[in-house]
Amino acid sequence: MNNRFTLSFLLLLNIISGFGQTTSEKNTPLSKHPPMGWMTWNYFGDNIHEKDIKQMADAMVESGMSALGYQYIFIDDGWQGGRDNKNNIIPDPEKFPSGIKALADYVHGKGLKLGIYSDAAQLTCAGYTASLNFENQDAKTFASWGIDYLKYDYCNAPADSATAKIRYKRMADALRQSGRDIAFGVCEWGGRHPWKWASSVGGQVWRTTGDIRDKWKDTGTGGYGILDIIDANAELDKYAVSGGWNDMDMLIAGLYGKKGPSGDLGGTGCSDIEYQTQMSIWCMMSSPLATSNDIRNMNDATKRILLNKEIIDINQDASGKQCQQKIKDKVWNIFTKELANGDYALAILNRSDTIQNFKLVFDKIGLTGKYEIRDVWEHKSIGHGKKWNGQVKKHETKVFRLRKI
Ligand code: GLA
Repeated sequence: MNNRFTLSFLLLLNIISGFGQTTSEKNTPLSKHPPMGWMTWNYFGDNIHEKDIKQMADAMVESGMSALGYQYIFIDDGWQGGRDNKNNIIPDPEKFPSGIKALADYVHGKGLKLGIYSDAAQLTCAGYTASLNFENQDAKTFASWGIDYLKYDYCNAPADSATAKIRYKRMADALRQSGRDIAFGVCEWGGRHPWKWASSVGGQVWRTTGDIRDKWKDTGTGGYGILDIIDANAELDKYAVSGGWNDMDMLIAGLYGKKGPSGDLGGTGCSDIEYQTQMSIWCMMSSPLATSNDIRNMNDATKRILLNKEIIDINQDASGKQCQQKIKDKVWNIFTKELANGDYALAILNRSDTIQNFKLVFDKIGLTGKYEIRDVWEHKSIGHGKKWNGQVKKHETKVFRLRKI
């Protein structure tokens, strides 16, 4: 009797404390909400330096971004300086003279988290030392530095899905055994349909497309623009769950055609309306939000886009759902997302190249009854009823929060 009581008591304690769970089973902050932060790649390419990264961490706090949920400083490719005589991966001593641990301490001191990058082959996409066959050793190194997130790329690796699954699982397992909670981002660009398997091998986010370029859409030069990624990701809503997110790649607001990775393949820049559309749909689709502009120097238009709490709330909503595409034709993409408190977020995107008038009867997209309509970009209620009438500029997205009345 006593023993049984002790056993039940211990069991209860286990349940309450989460003791006995593996790290991946725990609901980490990352797994509950799409991660938000700033990534080095589009602004710096591989020309990174700890001084700049520290300044970005400062800016994340000073700009008000961190208070809105932006939390990660993601170091992308180019940080590596090879391996030492014990095969430990080391940072480039010129780019990181104080070492990554010191940088992690700095970033943590600001209440932020640090992400790093590697690849499931011998070399990364930009040709730096990667982690194949050193998974356990590298995961332990990352843990010892205080890393919180690993973006794991797939350049120079075999094309088949079976190998990809094995290689991603190997690194996810290594991270789990590293002694630190390190979130895992799968980056194989969608070719092997990672939305179907990345979660089961230990991924918490997975890129669904090739790299975003700083352009509205592909016009024949190849590569993905904002609209191309929206179209590709729209079909994947059923795969996004709390803890497993479709990653639509970096936000490009504020880049304005800067040369560098996002400037390749015709990436000559977008208008602020187009950047606002990107933010709108990335939030509707519960994508990670990795800004990639110079957050130390943002103009008002970029701040308005990246620091809009109302749209961020839709991204981070506790429902953990990706929006559903209700209408797609030559002119319109209409999406709805059911939010945890019963409200609906509604996005109306004019994909055509001219200003358009639209009348949307909510009933037609499954929203019955009457709603209070709040414009998430204008930050005000614009009325109530069963429909919306109005103009949408070329490439603009209106986002409304509908509360049933
Ligand atoms: C790939 C990834 C990019 C970036 C570069 C770095 O292209 O998809 O996001 O990480 O590699 O080399």
